Order: sequence, then structure tokens, then C-alpha cells
Amino acid sequence: MKPAKRMESIPPSSTLRVLGLAKELERQGKKIIHMEVGEPDFDTPAHIKKAAEEALARGMTKYTPSAGLPELREAVAEHLATKGIKTTAKNIIITPGAKHAIFCAMAATLDPGDEVIIPSPCWTYEAMVRIVGGKPVFVKTSAENGFKLKVEDVQKMLTPKTRMLLLNYPNNPTGAVMRQREIRPLVDLATDRKLWVLSDEIYDCLVYEGEHASPMSFPGMAERTIYINGFSKAYAMTGWRLGYAAAPAELIAEMSKIQEASTSCVAGFVQAAGIAALRGPQGFITEMREEYKRRRDEIVKGLSSIDGIDCAKPEGAFYAFPVIKKLGIPSLEFCEVLLREAGVAAVPGSGFGPYGEGHVRFSYATSMENIKQAIKRVGEVVGSLRSHK
Ligand SMILES: Cc1ncc(COP(=O)(O)O)c(C=O)c1O
Repeated sequence: MKPAKRMESIPPSSTLRVLGLAKELERQGKKIIHMEVGEPDFDTPAHIKKAAEEALARGMTKYTPSAGLPELREAVAEHLATKGIKTTAKNIIITPGAKHAIFCAMAATLDPGDEVIIPSPCWTYEAMVRIVGGKPVFVKTSAENGFKLKVEDVQKMLTPKTRMLLLNYPNNPTGAVMRQREIRPLVDLATDRKLWVLSDEIYDCLVYEGEHASPMSFPGMAERTIYINGFSKAYAMTGWRLGYAAAPAELIAEMSKIQEASTSCVAGFVQAAGIAALRGPQGFITEMREEYKRRRDEIVKGLSSIDGIDCAKPEGAFYAFPVIKKLGIPSLEFCEVLLREAGVAAVPGSGFGPYGEGHVRFSYATSMENIKQAIKRVGEVVGSLRSHK
């Protein structure tokens, strides 16, 4: 029996491929430093866990409305108001993770063959666009201009089939952050060309320099923006699977139909934890951000000191994305050598769309001790690669 034809065009996740190999080496007894997965190493704050426990004890074990508990939708709308985004509960859908919010958004807006502009290097959007029958159109961003998306480069790729502009700032994998003045020409273009803007802002809680600007906060943008966020990064809740989208109410109704047909709803006690996260103390985010900033400074300093590696300072998220072109080997090969010889798991840049090659992504959502140890080992591997050239 054969899978559907379209499955041939759907790339597997390169992060998960590296993780698989790393786990295999661990089974063989090797100690691996995991810098491949984009997952906070902090635990979910205690008051959030407690809210879930209490909800379970109260019997919150049934289906909820597909779009989410009204109280959580309201809490999200209030939370977004603090970021300059004016919405109401009817503009919000609660999903099992931000990933599913993106999936529902694409399934509800894209017709077969519709083109989606994706700045690359980029996270795993290609698979989602293809699953719903759309066509990814990649626009190159590069280290020389801080991986910021330029409107001129987008303009060149527009066709009558362009339907959506996808933005992801702070960016995974590059850590780029776009300021208000840098976003403005892009939202103007989207308005002129009547495009949807899908803005994945899951890392907006992790900005170390400058200020993040949300496309949805620009005048008139609420009618064409699908804003994506979630609890995974801000509250260290990856395994809870809790995210959300904000969009025009009519589109939220369509996205709810997809959720009804796929997952029905997010578990009620998980949503109760989400209410506690948004309405409870926010100090955890600041502490976590300060720790990530220390780690970022350490990893950037360490990687930059290695001859053959160039590492710019990312302004947001928790990834370093150094250039390894001087080593003269493909990023996948480099990551395999790094994993087998030094026990450091990182993701090859080739896994981040057509313009990721020549880079490697290291997640610094791991301890300072691991970071220092990893830099030492990377230095040794690079040294031996260069001496064999
Ligand atoms: C850019 C980006 N968006 C979305 C997600 C997924 O978030 P969630 O765990 O809420 O599905 C990730 C996770 O790594 C991410 O890096």
C-alpha cells in the first residue's frame, strides 16, 4: 500500500532526525549534550501546575468548546492588549500548541496552489504549507543584514497566486528581531496586495536587545493578520500542548471547524493552567530571559573565539546560528561529526529551508555548564577538521 502522493514533497523535521541519532548514541552509553531541541530547560512554574491539578480535582475531564474555554479566550485577549493588540475573546482560538494554530490558519486560508512567502532560513513551515496543498516561496535573508526580511526581496517573489506573507520574529533559527520601522514596509505591502500576514511570535517573550513589533498592532492590520503565540516558550510548557491564534472573528470560526474535525479541543485542565499562566505572576519570564541572555553572551563569545566559525549576536529567541562556511563541509556532515566525535547535538542549517546551508543551529536552552563544555568540544572538532584539510 502506498501513502498519498503529496507526502513525497513533505520534508521530515531535521531537528527530530538529529535527536533520533543522538538518542541512538545515548542507548550505546555515550553522553550527549543536547543543543538541537528548541525546548526550555526550565520547569513549568509551580502555580501553573497547581492550577491544572486543581482543575482535575474539580472534574475538568470533559470536552470544552472547540475554540477554547471562554475564560481563557478572554485572558488571551487581555494579555494581547498589553502588547498593543486590540482583540476580543471572539478573535481568539485556543489550540494544542502554536503549531496546530498555524496548521488551522493555513488550512482555513489557503486554496490548492496558493503561494506563501516564507523568509528562509526558517522553521518547519514548509511541511505545513505543503500538507494543506499550498506552495512555499522562499525569500532569502542573510547574516550580512541581520537576517531581516527586506520588502524589495519580497516584492520580487510576488505573483498573482501569492496569498500569504509569513513572518516569524523573533526568528527561529536566526534569532533576528524586526523593529517597528522594519516591519512597516512589509505590512504596507501586505495591505496593498491584499495578503494574509501570518505572524508567528512564539519567541516575543525572549528579546534581549531592542523592541519587537507585532504586525497586528499596526492600524488596519487586524483584518488581515493571523497572530500566533503559545505557552511553550514563555511559561516552559512545551509538553502541555497549549497555544493560540488571534484573527478576524470570521476566520476564527473557520479555524474552529478544523479543530472540531481534528482534535475537538485542548484538554480542559490544560486550559485552566493557561489561565493561571496568563493571570498569575509574570516574574518567571523575566528571570528566564535574563538567564538566557547570560547564556547567549557566553555561547556567542565562545563560538566566535573558534577559528573557522563566525557567530553574530542574535537579538532574540534561544538559538545561536553561526556560519561554518570556512570549514568547507556541508552542515549535515558537520553535525554528524560533531555528534559522533564530540557528543554535541546541533541542527544542520540545511534543515531550515533553502537558505540555511552554511550554518548550524545551537539551542542555548540548556545549562551554562553544558554550553561551556559544548564550546570546548566544538573547538576541538573544528581544530581537527581544519588540521586535516
Ligand atoms: C518558530 C516556532 N513556532 C512555533 C513553535 C511551536 O510551538 P508549540 O510548542 O506551541 O507548538 C516552535 C517550536 O519550536 C517554534 O520554534
